[in-house]
Amino acid sequence: MKKITIAIDGHSSTGKSTAAKELAKALNYIYVDTGAMYRAVTYFALQNNFFENEILDEKALIPALETIDLDFKYDPAEARSKVLLNGDDVESFIRQMDVSNKVSYVAKVPEVRKKLVKIQQRIGEKGGLVMDGRDIGSVVFPQAELKIFMTATSHERAKRRYEEIKGQNTDLNFEEVLANVKQRDSIDSSRKTSPLLQTEDAVKIDNTDLSREEQSELLLHLAQKRIAIVNSPQ
Ligand code: DC
Repeated sequence: MKKITIAIDGHSSTGKSTAAKELAKALNYIYVDTGAMYRAVTYFALQNNFFENEILDEKALIPALETIDLDFKYDPAEARSKVLLNGDDVESFIRQMDVSNKVSYVAKVPEVRKKLVKIQQRIGEKGGLVMDGRDIGSVVFPQAELKIFMTATSHERAKRRYEEIKGQNTDLNFEEVLANVKQRDSIDSSRKTSPLLQTEDAVKIDNTDLSREEQSELLLHLAQKRIAIVNSPQ
């Protein structure tokens, strides 16, 4: 049975990662969270003081990119993959607000995108994977057999993000999270290199009013249909 490539793109905090992870598990495919890779590079930039307030020193970051090695390691205890930055598990740092607030500035840099896209294409060259991000169906795997574009209202997405991170950050307020979601939408959609866009051949899913179970079922159904078509005799 031929395994396919599934690209899941869409706005931030649409639950893409959770949905992609569940789908990969159901199909016994590899799951790759490309947002975690952009977040890891952002964490690296913060650690190296490449930011002065909101301003990223691209001239300092670009040559330093060759010193960055990114990898994923499956943690059986938590049943998920963790991103490794030069061998260190940085998973717990990359979801914090300081990284979320800065990641769009790093993701705009063409040299960063070039490096990460190359790694993503290498990971996915054999197919049998679900990859989520912003440019997977448009740039990383334009030939993907199934492309999904996920969205939901910005208010609903901020609500989900707030619920997810409020335990770790007691100073956090909802308005700040909503502002961050809107700001990232705007930067992600308007950047020159690989902006977030829905390709014509992608299936759009607005999950504002969908439960997690409904969405999982829908995705699995779409994937199984596609796999059957790809494997059907001509
Ligand atoms: O999916 P996420 O929220 O963890 O992504 C973090 C940021 O990285 C987001 O602002 C957009 C950017 N990103 C990107 O530009 N391209 C990708 N393939 C994945 C993420």
